[in-house]
Amino acid sequence: MSLLKWKTEYSVGVQEIDNQHKKLVELINKLFDAMKQGQANAVLGQILNELSSYAFSHFKTEEKYFKLFDYVEAQKHREIHQTFVKEISKFKNAFDAGQITLSISIFAFLKDWLHNHILGEDMKYVDCFAKNGLVQSEL
Ligand SMILES: [Fe+2]
Repeated sequence: MSLLKWKTEYSVGVQEIDNQHKKLVELINKLFDAMKQGQANAVLGQILNELSSYAFSHFKTEEKYFKLFDYVEAQKHREIHQTFVKEISKFKNAFDAGQITLSISIFAFLKDWLHNHILGEDMKYVDCFAKNGLVQSEL
């Protein structure tokens, strides 16, 4: 396991969204650092709270554009976002219930989400957003 790096292949061409995705990379790395120092349980509660508010505002941004541009896969994509929200709240409940050794599962879940969701689902809206004139970020 190692720190994650933002890669240009993650860019969806929209600065606002790329910055939000970078924030997710930061949160994952924060968890990773804490795990490395054996401090994961001390920061996990805070990280889970940050992930909830992150998900709320980030998904709201993407979904705002889905609506604005009549994105054809909006419904499916929104449902996938909901699975993320549910998963985080499950982790939160488990954490609040005092379950330990959660950090590795959370780390794996987030890493997988970053890779599969951004490179899979998010990339599918790039054309639609670009066609609707959403400003391209400089890569
Ligand atoms: Fe998304």
